[in-house]
Amino acid sequence: ATANIGVVGLAAMGSNLARNLAHHGNTVAVYNRHYERTEKLINEHGNEGKFVPSKTIEEFVASLKRPRTAIIMVKAGAPTDAVINELADAMEPGDIIVDGGNSYFEDTIRREKEIRARGLHFVGCGVSGGEEGALNGPSLMPGGTEESWKTLGPILKSIAAIAEGEPCVTHIGENGAGHFVKMVHNGIEYADMQLIAESYDLMHRGLGMDAAEIGDVFEEWNKTELNSYLIEITAEVLHQVDAKTGKALVDVIVDRAGMKGTGTWTVQTALSLAIPVTGIAEAVFARGLSGMTEQRAEAQKQHLAGPEQKLDVASAERAAFIEDIRHALYASKIVAYAQGFDEIQAGAKEYGWNIDLAAVARIWRGGCIIRAQFLNRVSEAFESGEADISLLFAPYFKDAIAKAQDSWRRVVAKAALNGMPTPAFASSLSYYDGLRSDRLPAALIQGQRDYFGAHTYGRIDQPGAFHTLWAEPGRPEITA
Ligand code: 6PG
Repeated sequence: ATANIGVVGLAAMGSNLARNLAHHGNTVAVYNRHYERTEKLINEHGNEGKFVPSKTIEEFVASLKRPRTAIIMVKAGAPTDAVINELADAMEPGDIIVDGGNSYFEDTIRREKEIRARGLHFVGCGVSGGEEGALNGPSLMPGGTEESWKTLGPILKSIAAIAEGEPCVTHIGENGAGHFVKMVHNGIEYADMQLIAESYDLMHRGLGMDAAEIGDVFEEWNKTELNSYLIEITAEVLHQVDAKTGKALVDVIVDRAGMKGTGTWTVQTALSLAIPVTGIAEAVFARGLSGMTEQRAEAQKQHLAGPEQKLDVASAERAAFIEDIRHALYASKIVAYAQGFDEIQAGAKEYGWNIDLAAVARIWRGGCIIRAQFLNRVSEAFESGEADISLLFAPYFKDAIAKAQDSWRRVVAKAALNGMPTPAFASSLSYYDGLRSDRLPAALIQGQRDYFGAHTYGRIDQPGAFHTLWAEPGRPEITA
């Protein structure tokens, strides 16, 4: 046995991760169900480092030094379960199985329990950054035991992206913590993308700008506090010309957004934790709406009433309005991140994980899809304790929203008046205004609940639960 790490599953992500490991001095055992993929990796990249190819899982396990450590990079769900079982059968107590797929964290909790009962370690590890990240430095979010981290930590540090001199990996917490954090990362990714898409729509349909012009705007925005990977690639996507038609490529792409499930999980989980992740939810719903082909076609056919979906902005005010959109994007983005971190905090409490939010923000600064300049500020806010209650109360972000809010309101109001959808902008603003409301209409809801269901309510002037005999006016309230 010579390999200190192994990779099972050599599709794009797996083979890139294996190469990354080999580039950093690891001896990498590699195995794929169909040997052709293994052969392809060795033929094309075998000279990049030390690989130990195997034709069977037993041979693969035998090629690993103890404690044997194997990273699984196969499809989430049943294929992952199948490989975990094969590995567990061939491995021995103390060995470490790492699932690097986008697995649902509840599955990871279950698997960790099962594998631990067999004396092995199971690590659910979020891997972000796509194929390019896997090869050149991903952001890594491993869960699992402290003991497995001792072996795995140095290996993961050797391949992770580097941000501000630090590797973008940290031990997130026990069992499903890593996949939970990766899930929320993806939810935030959805919100970020939706906010960018709304900004594009306001400029494109609203102001009549073409894709290349808008690409130039995003390029400029990338030099501001919005500096991030997603803004950068947005500019590139908008500048891309279609070879076939000569048009902007974005104009010939079908306007129906796909999704593989992690955004939905983020929202489902938030709902069960009673955490309002409105920005993420609206982003998932917006993708859903884009896919309602039949209803959208019918809406066109029936000309559902509404304004023309153009913004009445005089040309002299156009630049100022584009600035307004930028501020609206930034404020909404802060809200979406605050909500995402709220969900991580609530998840940590519910599942008993000790998650360092500052460390999470730090490892998202490089390698991952949501990497952004402003995560430096986010990590500082959590580190200093300023964001203990919410990111929104850290002075830097509180001030940023205070400065952006007039713009934010103008954008949401103008969009609504002109019939342009801005679900993520608008819901983030409502969330913010709801949060700062001295008194919410929830009092009325409590009254309604008590009326029809005797659900009781609290009083502002007295502790306890109260019920009113509503149908009989004049009757005094009674304590339930
Ligand atoms: C990442 C990405 C990655 C993947 C998403 C896409 O962090 O590298 O999030 O995990 O691109 O799963 O998700 P959708 O297909 O649902 O948009």
